[in-house]
Amino acid sequence: MLVWEEDRKPAPSASNHGLSATHSSGLQQAVAAPTPPASAATASERRVNIADKRIINGQTDVNQLVPFKYKWAWDKYLATCANHWMPQEVNMSRDIALWKDPNGLSEDERRIIKRNLGFFVTADSLAANNIVLGTYRHITAPECRQFLLRQAFEEAIHTHAYQYIVESLGLDESEIFNAYHEVASIRDKDEFLIPFIDAIMDPNFHTGTLAADQTLLKSLIVFACLMEGLFFYVGFTQILAMGRQNKMTGAAEQYQYILRDESMHCNFGIDLINQIKLENPQLWTPAFKAEIKALFLKAVELEYRYAEDTMPRGVLGLNAAMFKGYLRYIANRRATQIGLEELFPNEENPFPWMSEMIDLKKERNFFETRVIEYQSGGALSWD
Ligand SMILES: [Fe+2]
Ligand SMILES: [Fe+2]
Repeated sequence: MLVWEEDRKPAPSASNHGLSATHSSGLQQAVAAPTPPASAATASERRVNIADKRIINGQTDVNQLVPFKYKWAWDKYLATCANHWMPQEVNMSRDIALWKDPNGLSEDERRIIKRNLGFFVTADSLAANNIVLGTYRHITAPECRQFLLRQAFEEAIHTHAYQYIVESLGLDESEIFNAYHEVASIRDKDEFLIPFIDAIMDPNFHTGTLAADQTLLKSLIVFACLMEGLFFYVGFTQILAMGRQNKMTGAAEQYQYILRDESMHCNFGIDLINQIKLENPQLWTPAFKAEIKALFLKAVELEYRYAEDTMPRGVLGLNAAMFKGYLRYIANRRATQIGLEELFPNEENPFPWMSEMIDLKKERNFFETRVIEYQSGGALSWD
C-alpha cells in the first residue's frame, strides 16, 4: 500500500525555515516589540562567509542567496528559467483527431499512451512533494534551494501537461489517475521509491549524524539517478518514438519539453550528490556503495518489467528487449556520474536519437506543432 505524504502532519522545526535560533528569535522580537539594534560586532559576525557554506548541515543563513558558493546551481536555475513553457500552448488538435479515429492508432499504441500517462500523472506529483516536503528543508545552500523551488514548479507544469493530455484526448480520468494503484508495473515502481521519500519527509528526521546523512544521500541518489534518471526513460522513448512517426505529435512535443526539464533536474541532482560527497567523504563507505549498486540493479529490473508490460509485442519499431540494453546503458551512465563503476560494462545506446532529443535546443520545434518559440528570462535582449 502506498503511503502518501498528505497523510503526514509535519511539525514545524527550526531547520524548516532555516533561521538559526538567534535569527529566529530576533525576527520574532522585531514583530512583537521593537528591540535595540544588534551591535556592529554582532551584525558583522553574522555576515555570510563563503567558506562556511555547506550543502547539508550548513550553519550559514539560508535566506541570503549571495555570496554565491555553488555557482553551478545558480547557473542551472537560470537555464531552467530560460526554458520556461506551458502545456496549454501546445496544439493538441491533431492528437485528438488521431485518438478519436477508430483506425488512427493500433491497440498496442493506445495501450502505450494509457500506461504512459498512468505512470506520469502521479509520478511528477510524487517528485514535487518529495522536493517541497522532503529534500528542501535538508539542503542548507540557498543557491541549491533556489533551483529546487524552480524544479518544484516545473514538476507542477509536468503534472499539468499530463493532465492536459488526458483531458484533451477525453481519456477515462479515474482509470489513468488510479493506475499507480491498479497497474502492477506502475505500482511496483512507486512502491520502490516511496520509502526513500518517506524517510526524509519524516518530521523527526534530521541530518547531522553519519546514518542520517547517508539516508539523505541515498534518497537524493534514488530520486535523481533512478526516478528522474531511469524510471522516466521507457515512457519518454515510447512517446517520442510515436512523435517521430508523426503520431501524437502534440503529446510528443510536451514530452520533449519535459525530457529537457528532467535531464536538467537529473544533472542538478548529480551535481548536488557529488558536492555532498566532496564535503562529506565519510558518507561514501564500501557498504553504502554496495547498497546503492543493489538499488540500481533493482530499478533496472523494475523499469524493464514496465517495458514488458507496456509493450507485450513489438510496436513503433520498438520492443521490450531493446529496452534491456537501453536501461543498462543509462544505469551505467548514472552510476559513473556519481563515481560508481559501470554496472553493465560495454552496453551501447540502442536509441542514439534519444540523445539528440535531450540536447535539442528549444528554438527548434521538433514536431512542428506550433510556431511559438520558448526562450525567456536571461535569453531576452532589451533595446
Ligand atoms: Fe517532472
Ligand atoms: Fe523532475
